[in-house]
Amino acid sequence: MTADTIAINRRRDLFSGQRAVWLFGYGSLIFKADFPWLQRCPARIRGWVRRFWQGSHDHRGTPESPGRVVTLVPRPEAVCVGMAYRITPDVFEHLDFREKNGYLRFTTEMQLAHGQEAQGLVYIATEDNAAYLGPAPEQEIAAQIARSSGPSGANSEYLLRLAEALRELDAEDSHVFALERCLRGLQPAAG
Ligand code: SIN
Repeated sequence: MTADTIAINRRRDLFSGQRAVWLFGYGSLIFKADFPWLQRCPARIRGWVRRFWQGSHDHRGTPESPGRVVTLVPRPEAVCVGMAYRITPDVFEHLDFREKNGYLRFTTEMQLAHGQEAQGLVYIATEDNAAYLGPAPEQEIAAQIARSSGPSGANSEYLLRLAEALRELDAEDSHVFALERCLRGLQPAAG
């Protein structure tokens, strides 16, 4: 599958006719909400874990030197904590552009902070997209993040801001926090 998912996502019209939709954010969508939203609250989804396995050519890296950003990987029993936003469907155009490097719209069940179950949308980069990098040892992932940067800024900033946002949400995420420790070891002055 091509890495540019804009056209594919336009055809994945999963919530047509609805006036507002819940969007589940688990990566930069937690700490960088550059779109209008009606409501926002912490949320969780079951059966997925967050992993720095997606390449970033357009935000935190370049085509020649991609960075690494998060996607979701299926894992039965796992719970992924993130942030849910109630948005109007006209925001999809902005989101499709922002998430165009391999992410596809999927529907998901999510549990909102106050216990309410909701159906909504999540952007996931599956392993068949051209920008997918997959697993690697933590030290290698952290080293790639340490040396990468792109139009949206340093890849290290993405990792550090995500780790900070997850702490604010009281979310346990051993993968992200281990990478944060590795990164700080490589770059004692970072953050
Ligand atoms: C997300 O945050 O939900 C998707 C991944 C990203 O944009 O970092």
